Amino acid sequence: MKEGLYSGLDAEFYDELLEGELEDLPFWRMLLESNPGPALEVGCGTGRIMLPLIQEGHRIDGMDSSKRMVDLLLEKADQLNLTVDARVQVMEDLDMGKSYDLVFIPGFSLQMVESRELLKQSLKQFHNHLSPEGKLAVSLFFPWEELEEDEPGEWRLRKKIKRPDGTRLVCHQSTVINYEDQSLVVENRYTLLDNERNQLNEELRDIRLLWFYPHEFHLLLEECGFELLDTYSDFQDEPMDEQTPHAVFLARKS
Ligand SMILES: C[S@@+](CC[C@H](N)C(=O)[O-])C[C@H]1O[C@@H](n2cnc3c(N)ncnc32)[C@H](O)[C@@H]1O
Repeated sequence: MKEGLYSGLDAEFYDELLEGELEDLPFWRMLLESNPGPALEVGCGTGRIMLPLIQEGHRIDGMDSSKRMVDLLLEKADQLNLTVDARVQVMEDLDMGKSYDLVFIPGFSLQMVESRELLKQSLKQFHNHLSPEGKLAVSLFFPWEELEEDEPGEWRLRKKIKRPDGTRLVCHQSTVINYEDQSLVVENRYTLLDNERNQLNEELRDIRLLWFYPHEFHLLLEECGFELLDTYSDFQDEPMDEQTPHAVFLARKS
């Protein structure tokens, strides 16, 4: 059975599936240090990036379309005695009622909107939420490897997780590139097993990412009122190259 995004096992096990995957955290920290005003994380999820940075003293609000992800974030914030403003909203209709010096989007969340029209609408909403000197930082995934893949759609083991109570989650993944609408569908199959390895539950959850050529995204930014300031490869202080699958585009209002 196919289900909605980040509302079931994908939300419950999000932190464990990404455990230890924090290689982008120093980059976002560096950006917040050079833009110390109030910031907004779009698609904040369970707070993988937002919570450690708030603990360090940065002022960050969050928003996400998944109520379950925001609930998990708020539970963790509570345990850490942090007061945070994290709301359930879709980025295409972003309405925080205030402006920010930095709007940033880790985890390639912008690419999860349904269409190019909604992506442009989202960029315009970010523009509306930025102070006059504010900046926008967007992480983007470029599927160069997937474009060359010999066997699209093949299932691969992504991760196995064992919880202290003996339950296990096994996640398999397959990816398919669509050229017509420039999308990449990442299908995730989550199988939950009890401590005797009997299957308790299975869920299929597709993540559809829109993808862009770098110049195309640059033009989209300009069309939505931004001027590109810099690009970064793999969350390092180096400009994007032609092979990197992970980049950040930094822009300001033009
Ligand atoms: C890969 S997770 C990233 C979460 C977090 N930023 C991180 O880096 O761990 C993508 C997040 O984007 C959210 N998302 C997807 N589409 C969205 C939309 N249209 N508006 C707001 N959030 C959205 C999902 O619910 C999910 O929490």
